[in-house]
Parts: sequence; C-alpha cells; structure tokens
Amino acid sequence: MTSTAGGAGQLLAISDLHIGYPENRALVEAMRPETDDDWLLVAGDVSENVADICWALKTLASRFRQVVWAPGNHELWTHPSDPVALRGVARYEHLVSRCRDLGVLTPEDPYAVWEGPGGPVAVAPLFLLYDYSFLPPGCTTKEEGLAYAHETGIVCNDEYLLHPDPYPTREEWCRARVAETERRLAALPDGLPVVPVNHYPLDRHPTDVLWHPEFAMWCGTRLTADWHRRFRVATMVYGHLHIPRTTWHEGVRFEEVSVGYPREWRGRSQPPGRLRRILPSEDVER
Ligand SMILES: [Fe+2]
Ligand SMILES: [Fe+2]
Repeated sequence: MTSTAGGAGQLLAISDLHIGYPENRALVEAMRPETDDDWLLVAGDVSENVADICWALKTLASRFRQVVWAPGNHELWTHPSDPVALRGVARYEHLVSRCRDLGVLTPEDPYAVWEGPGGPVAVAPLFLLYDYSFLPPGCTTKEEGLAYAHETGIVCNDEYLLHPDPYPTREEWCRARVAETERRLAALPDGLPVVPVNHYPLDRHPTDVLWHPEFAMWCGTRLTADWHRRFRVATMVYGHLHIPRTTWHEGVRFEEVSVGYPREWRGRSQPPGRLRRILPSEDVER
C-alpha cells in the first residue's frame, strides 16, 4: 500500500478540468501543491482526448506527492477527434495502463492509505458509472426517462459517445463495477474511514438542484445510496455536476470539486481551479 511520508501535507481534490478549453489548460499549468506532501485527487472529466488526459496527469504527477484518478464520462467517450479510437472497457484499460506509467493511482490499484493530517483513511478512487435509476419525476423506467429527456432535448452526449463494449449496455457495465467495488470496500480493515473519489455522487441528493432534473439519469446509481454509512465515509469526493459545493447527508460531507467550463466558472466569485481541501477538514458549515 502507498502511504504518505507523514508530517505535513493535505489531501486536495479537483475534477472536471476539461482541458480541451485553453483557459482550463492554463489552470492546470498553474496548479501547484502547497506543501511537498500534498496529494491530489482528480475525480474525472480531465478531457475526452487521451493525449490531453496524459499531459494533465503527467503535469500534476510531477508536482504532487501522489495523484489519484477516477474516470469521468468524458475520458470514456470515443470522440471522433481523438486518434485513440478504443471503446468501452478497452479504452478504460488503456487509460489505466497510461496512469500506471505515470505513477498515478486508479480504481484498479490497491487503495492507498493517507496517513497525513486527518488520517489514516483509505483513499478509494472508484469507477461505477450510472444505471439510469435516478429517474425524472413521474417516470418509472429507463425507457420512460429517456423518452422524456428526448422530448425536453436534455440528452447527455454519452448516449452517442460512451460505448459500453463488451457489455451490452452502460447499466450492465455499471452493475458489474458496483458489485466488484462493493466487494473491495467491504474487505477494508474494520474501522478504517474511507474517502471515495467517484465522478458521480454516491447518493442522489446533490442532483436535486439540477436545472434540468432529467439529467440526473446520467449522474449515478441508487445501488450506492447507503455506501456512505456502510463504508465509514469520511468525505465523498465527486464532480460531474459542475455545481461546486459542500453538502451534508446523514452526517457525511459530500464535496463537489469541479472546475467546469469557462462559461460556467467565469460567472462565479471564487477564482477558478481552486483545489478543494479534503483532509485535514476545512472549516465548513453544516
Ligand atoms: Fe464535466
Ligand atoms: Fe462528467
């Protein structure tokens, strides 16, 4: 298991770097740790282009003591502009292998233990995907939900670009990932808290504020709704919604750490690209 050198250091987090935008690439170029022992958790959506993903992770890995990555939906897109045309599981495994070359931890590695301030905690990058179980109000099946989304015009590009091969559907890929991840989390030592790093929130509540509620179908799965209690979650780190904020659910801190698109962050009062401190805990209001 990987562990910190001890002493100082912070567990920091960010997501949704979307470095295809030059303004966002510049944010990564400027990103630096505050101490030599800082770790950085990257909760997906670095880019949809493999060369860009590797550039960002390599840049960050050269500066932070340890970088931990979980894939977002954009990394898993097979975008026509990317020379790497791999699909589904093969694309994910290719990214994992590139991360190994860079010393970046992925959901396929043993969970590292953060032993710096606020530790020890297991740092668990997760790849769970979604299964369309966060349905819009009034809908009871995926088919009804998708029909409604097509009516409103709010349909995630995953429908056209995120291929589940060799799984027949994204939801079957999700269920396989959930089953395997549940087994691994259950095998952690009793009493060791966990910081899960997943592109999507483990519980549905953060999607309650979505402007278009039907988009929640592409934002997680009900299968993980009790994981924050079952697995002693210290703080749940996620992104994807592009709504950076802290929420508390049944006593557990959920931290949305996204940067988002320039058109989104330009309107905010906080400077863009700020790394969110996960441990030691920030003074956040419940
Ligand atoms: Fe994103
Ligand atoms: Fe995303």
